Amino acid sequence: MKKVSVPTTNDICPQTLFVYGSMNENGTPNFGLFCWFSYCWFEQLGVICAIGGSKRTLENIRRNGVFSANLVTENNLPLADYFGTADGRDNDKMDVSVEWEKGAVLSVPILCSSPISFELEIDKEISTGEKDEVVLLCRIRNTLKDECFVDSSMTSEEIFKATAAVRTCVDCDYWSWDGKYLGKWHERAKEIKANVEIGAAARGN
Ligand SMILES: Cc1cc2nc3c(=O)[nH]c(=O)nc-3n(C[C@H](O)[C@H](O)[C@H](O)COP(=O)(O)O)c2cc1C
Repeated sequence: MKKVSVPTTNDICPQTLFVYGSMNENGTPNFGLFCWFSYCWFEQLGVICAIGGSKRTLENIRRNGVFSANLVTENNLPLADYFGTADGRDNDKMDVSVEWEKGAVLSVPILCSSPISFELEIDKEISTGEKDEVVLLCRIRNTLKDECFVDSSMTSEEIFKATAAVRTCVDCDYWSWDGKYLGKWHERAKEIKANVEIGAAARGN
């Protein structure tokens, strides 16, 4: 197959989505949606997160040094898309119905609808731009998983099907793990708040 050089893009490289949970200064939770997420090694599994630009999530993470990463699934996609659409610096972002609890080890908000959540502590922040473009290398202090997936007799295929993780790819689209189209960024958010202020869309995220 002949290869051609194209403008830089990751459009056909599917990414898994996570909702990051962080605590505001007043002890209330804030959630944002992220896809620049992968893994690294710190004597055990660790996490790499890239954040591109000033936002409430980054302010909270820098102040607290800890946050959670919660897997996005088909069930919680509208809420996750809302978290990636509304701006956390708007006072009413979190005026929506969200079931959350505190982490088992760290004081981080956990999204109850995620089948797996990582409680993360920053080990290193690496600047990749002017000021608020960063890569965070994080240690996983605890992993919380839905009981039904622990010591289960399910096959990997059955687990993937039951988890129903969402991916993003090409042209700001959401896709199911097995290739079903699930809508565009900022569209599913309207199931949560009809007239949601598309702060993130306006900022180009
Ligand atoms: C599908 C999707 C993926 C996103 N991934 C990232 C990401 O990896 N890094 C990032 O900095 N922003 C990302 N964003 C933008 C943030 O979700 C957005 O800035 C949001 O407002 C963050 O929440 P906050 O304002 O409460 O901090 C993404 C948005 C969407 C819709």
